[in-house]
Amino acid sequence: MKVLCFGSLNIDYVYRVPHFVARGETLASAALEVFSGGKGLNQSVALARAGAKVLHAGAIGAEGRFLLEELAAAGVDTALVEVLDGVRTGHAVIQRDESGDNCILLYGGANRAITREQIDRTLARFSAGDVLLLQNEISEGLYAARRAGERGMRVVLNPSPMEESLLPLFALADTLLLNEVEAAQFLGLPADAAPELLIDGLRRRLPETELVLTLGARGAVYACGDTLLCQRAFPVRAVDTTAAGDTFTGFFLASRLSGADAPAALRLASAAAALAVTRPGAAPSIPTRGEAEAFLSRAEADC
Ligand code: RIB
Repeated sequence: MKVLCFGSLNIDYVYRVPHFVARGETLASAALEVFSGGKGLNQSVALARAGAKVLHAGAIGAEGRFLLEELAAAGVDTALVEVLDGVRTGHAVIQRDESGDNCILLYGGANRAITREQIDRTLARFSAGDVLLLQNEISEGLYAARRAGERGMRVVLNPSPMEESLLPLFALADTLLLNEVEAAQFLGLPADAAPELLIDGLRRRLPETELVLTLGARGAVYACGDTLLCQRAFPVRAVDTTAAGDTFTGFFLASRLSGADAPAALRLASAAAALAVTRPGAAPSIPTRGEAEAFLSRAEADC
């Protein structure tokens, strides 16, 4: 079984700010840091650091080659990432405030230059039983999910960032990991709908899908068939929440693919995400499996 993450690769420009810039405001930032990021790249790194063998597919411009080094250093196979001429690498402008919260502005660049031909070329190397992990930062994601489904691949979807055009993709996913805002939008509910309402709605609309609803500092809820599980988040002092969700997704999936049951995968993913928010940056903040397991043992001993 092969695991393919077909997703974005971004250069993250992170500006430290006293508060998020408001309409019409000019605001001085206290610091600028540059990290490897992109939800696709982050999730590939998380999968690999959690112990999965993963191939990453996507596209960058020439100036983004250092992103391949970050992936390779984490143990990700980058042979399927294409370097495009005359296109800029995707990037993110991230404001990070004093509490570690962020807001993100994306420039898609090469991530949005992915064609159906690239997807066909890539998926031709995979077959029934292989896994495709998708987010929503590349072009033609819906096409990729359809083609993967036709090949008998298992589709895992993290529909982030959420948009209307993504809704048909939900029904193609075997596993869906999403946050409250994404779930509310899918269900047509208010953004502050209670988690119970969201998970009930998701179960009714997608009865065959393995569902993970992430709730930030309040943990996560898992549903599959008759199974319903709650996982608390481990309390930590947040420095930077960027890539916490990506870390959770990568660790949960790697853990499930290695045969762990859902409760164990949720615990490990929560521990890894908690560690990630204590460190600055996106990909560099993602812990190794050893670090996540050690954190988990300490957290469980403290209970
Ligand atoms: O999920 C965090 C990521 O979102 C950042 O690394 C940024 O690049 C955006 O894709």
